[in-house]
Amino acid sequence: MTLPASPQPGPSPVMHKHPDIARLVTLFYERARADALIGPVFEAKINDWDAHLRALTAFWAAQLRGRGAYRGQPVAAHVAMARRIAPAMFERWQDLWRQAAQEVMSPSDADVLIAKAGRIAAVLASAVAQAQDEAA
Ligand code: HEM
Repeated sequence: MTLPASPQPGPSPVMHKHPDIARLVTLFYERARADALIGPVFEAKINDWDAHLRALTAFWAAQLRGRGAYRGQPVAAHVAMARRIAPAMFERWQDLWRQAAQEVMSPSDADVLIAKAGRIAAVLASAVAQAQDEAA
């Protein structure tokens, strides 16, 4: 018998527990993947989209509700792909996030999610810029 090397594909407990966030994350990444500016970065880096959607649902559940088993390293993950990232991508990312959050979430949750994304994007953008400077 072989054991699966990575988490099972398909819906997961975190996505069942937070169906609104799972819907937001799924919609956002559908659009992000299709976007001419940022889509290619996702296509180049992500092989297992089910795993990414589960991880990001856990990440946003932790951000919004303080629950969800997210154990990742967002700064390290983005610094590792600094050479693929341009500053304008953070603006596009946030435009798509704002739109999707306003479509899917209650107005008050959308406001919280948009504000948190803005703060995290600023941290990621500055870590990426620093890595780019060091590589230059
Ligand atoms: C320039 C805009 C962005 C691009 C192109 C981008 C792209 C990506 C890609 C390709 C990954 C997968 C990395 C990998 O598996 O090696 C990833 C991971 C992730 N991204 Fe972004 N991202 C952007 C901005 C953001 C922002 C603004 C946030 C949060 C507000 C965010 C949150 C995350 C998180 C939580 C992960 C998972 C990291 C981990 O735990 O490994 N990203 N991103």
